[in-house]
Amino acid sequence: MTDRYAVIGNPINHTKSPLIHGLFAQTTGQDMVYTAVLGTPGAFAQDVAAFRQAGGRGMNVTVPFKMDAFACATEPSDRARMAGAVNALKFDGDRILAENFDGIGLTRDVTHNLGVPLAGKRVLILGAGGATRGMVMPFLAEQPAELVIANRTVATAQALVAEVLAQSPASPVSACGYADVSGAFDLVFNATSASLHAELPPVPVTAFAPGCLAYELAYGKGMTPFLKLAQQAGVTHLADGVGMLVEQAAEAFEWWRGVRPDTRPVIDQLTVPLV
Ligand code: ATR
Repeated sequence: MTDRYAVIGNPINHTKSPLIHGLFAQTTGQDMVYTAVLGTPGAFAQDVAAFRQAGGRGMNVTVPFKMDAFACATEPSDRARMAGAVNALKFDGDRILAENFDGIGLTRDVTHNLGVPLAGKRVLILGAGGATRGMVMPFLAEQPAELVIANRTVATAQALVAEVLAQSPASPVSACGYADVSGAFDLVFNATSASLHAELPPVPVTAFAPGCLAYELAYGKGMTPFLKLAQQAGVTHLADGVGMLVEQAAEAFEWWRGVRPDTRPVIDQLTVPLV
């Protein structure tokens, strides 16, 4: 029987996941179908149960259900625990295994696809929400010289850093407000939701080191205010989240199917020029 997978979210009409997983299935010769499910706010667990009942083997989870997915998991991974959010579920009998692949997908995109190592570098993350929570541990595993988390609400960034330090006390991680970002960074990530509203986190222009990578986690939004600021600061290496989107999907695909798909052609197909 053909195995069933789906992405669940609300809204869900703009999702690229069925396209990405469809291409992965085609190129790896996997017998599976992957669809999109419009989730019901307040009834996430019922929607998941219905999908499992109908033979579903796994799901990707997107806004606004990443916390609900964590709550309904019977076995969340350490990564999912740290993020407090889940973006992939695997069903195995009564077990619901849960993962968060956003952070490792992003790390792979940066180090492998973009060819920028984090090791020994000064790294700045703007924002301290769900996206940042998923990034911190995979980033620290790459052994940057320093990881600074800047956020509008400083207390949120401080609480996240305290959590990280409780888990791994020697980590070179710290928190601050935008006005206190000091020095230049080799990699700067915009993990705020500001770009979704065409807004700009007020990061000082001096934060961008010459030759740095400026990475916008949002995908397909063209030159966001963050990328424009980086460009004005002289940054030429600009990226958006298309590679992260495809790499997190590849992680989920491998977790479900045991086969690693080739991401390059899919990234090329989905790339929207930064203009
Ligand atoms: P996500 O899951 O996408 O990370 P989230 O958990 O709601 O979403 O977090 C949104 C992040 O974007 C937060 O860090 C938020 O800052 P606050 O903690 O101060 O709210 C940040 N953010 C949203 N809009 C912003 C803006 N206009 N300027 C700066 N930061 C913004």
